Amino acid sequence: MGSPIAVFGSINMDLVIYSQTKPMEGETIFGNSFETFQGGKGANQAVAISKLGGDVTFIGKVGNDIFGQQLKENLINVGVNTDMLYEHEGESGVAFINVFGAESQNQIIVVPGANSHTTSDQISDNLLESVQIIISQLEVPAEEVEKVFLRAKELGCYRILNTAPSIKISKELISLTDLFIMNESELESYSDTLVQASDLNSIIEAINNLSLRDDQSVVVTLGAYGVFIYSKDNQEFIEGHKVEAIDSTGSGDCFVGALANSYLGNRDLVEATKFANKAAALSVTKKGASASMPTMKEVNLVL
Ligand code: RIB
Repeated sequence: MGSPIAVFGSINMDLVIYSQTKPMEGETIFGNSFETFQGGKGANQAVAISKLGGDVTFIGKVGNDIFGQQLKENLINVGVNTDMLYEHEGESGVAFINVFGAESQNQIIVVPGANSHTTSDQISDNLLESVQIIISQLEVPAEEVEKVFLRAKELGCYRILNTAPSIKISKELISLTDLFIMNESELESYSDTLVQASDLNSIIEAINNLSLRDDQSVVVTLGAYGVFIYSKDNQEFIEGHKVEAIDSTGSGDCFVGALANSYLGNRDLVEATKFANKAAALSVTKKGASASMPTMKEVNLVL
């Protein structure tokens, strides 16, 4: 028996510098600290699901370097199924991250490395047949995501696309997606419409400009403001939880993983979004991406 949730996506070693400010062009500044964390949007989402008690398989590629070994071990240690995590002869993906300022904003540069060699044929038909929800993002080749989603559609599997980072994607991939999870800047870029997190009308207008079908839904994450859900039967804004932000890296990934895990159980997008909103708020109170994913007990107890 395979896992009911599969994540097809990226895995990176995050090299993180915490500083008071961000350097201006040509400027050298002192940072406060440097840390390495497990990251990559795909791996973060798989870890979020596993930490919440979900059964998840991660499909991706690491390099045959020291980072690759550590990244794989980390996933195994938190209970993610890595049977379809393959090794590529070359470097693992890395992300250079600067977390700065009182609100812990971040800037991220990703060098994909092995992630660029992730292919759809890494997922066997056997696994895909048992998967009920498949999640992907855009740090692995979008044409491979499209191939996976096509096979997943034929097998009746629910397809979630987290449109991060914002890159151009084919009409076919858009059409193959059941649920889009995007942040406000991704919505702005895909809809070619100006979006303001504090202005729901601008969000609705942008979603309308995506020209999706009635059977497709969108969840827009709006940072500290909250989340907006848009489906055929429901349009709802859910306010963000007030927390003290230490590091927001990976909070979007926590949201995606938590939503998928909850949706698997109840098939209720509003309930799943409310749960994910709580989990993601909790994740910004800890440092690191995968390292900040909460357990089910933490989500239920703390908020
Ligand atoms: O979403 C956060 C993630 O983006 C980081 O972990 C980094 O690796 C990049 O993929």
